[in-house]
Amino acid sequence: MSKIRLGVNIDHVATVRNARGENYPSPLRAALFVQKSGADSVTIHLREDRRHINDSDLKQIKSKLKIPLNLEIAATDEMLKIALKRKPPFICIVPEKRQEITTEGGLNLNFKKNSLKKIINKLKKNKSRISLFVEPNLNDIKESKNLNADCVEIHTGKFCNLININKNYENELKKIKAAVKLGNKLGLEVHAGHGLTYKSAKILAKISGIKEFNIGHFLIGESIFVGLNKTIKNFRKIIK
Ligand code: PXP
Repeated sequence: MSKIRLGVNIDHVATVRNARGENYPSPLRAALFVQKSGADSVTIHLREDRRHINDSDLKQIKSKLKIPLNLEIAATDEMLKIALKRKPPFICIVPEKRQEITTEGGLNLNFKKNSLKKIINKLKKNKSRISLFVEPNLNDIKESKNLNADCVEIHTGKFCNLININKNYENELKKIKAAVKLGNKLGLEVHAGHGLTYKSAKILAKISGIKEFNIGHFLIGESIFVGLNKTIKNFRKIIK
């Protein structure tokens, strides 16, 4: 059985840097540190408003990183142009609303379907692996296959939230399990991400068929106390 991959999202290193308008802490240094600590990929989200990662971070990280870079982008002409130029090995297409604090939900796959399909095909021709960030909803999994995506990343935000506030999460877990099963059946590679902590990752790691976890905010926060290396190693143990 192939190993489950851990992708580490380092957006919040850039958030800390930007809070003071300085040139530290460096996202490039974080990306290389994450690589040395045993992660399988590094994720960055280049948002329209460049609130954390910026174009120069993307350029530097892409040129120095040896493990795959996973670039999260919205399906816009601007981001398509940038992704075609930088050629990250992995791309995850995400919805984006300017006012949101974080990516609040999965993509609406019924909106501008044709343009999304064109974007996916152009990026695939450019040799990037394409993932769509979707809710754990069977129609969106089927639609991702129709759109020719290679992978789906299931938005685990609602599930993680319920765990954080000690509410019953069984229904949400059921939805995730069904989405993973269908994704695998259709030949999509299934990933999971958003809001994951040690506790939620431990529960989801028991579902067979999830090939990659992408984790950011909690991991960067936890590393304030125990360090990035230790936090990555802890997540590695959980998702193995
Ligand atoms: N996966 C995707 C597609 C995301 O947009 C994000 C947040 O940028 C993450 C994973 C990581 O979420 P978190 O920072 O809550 O761990």
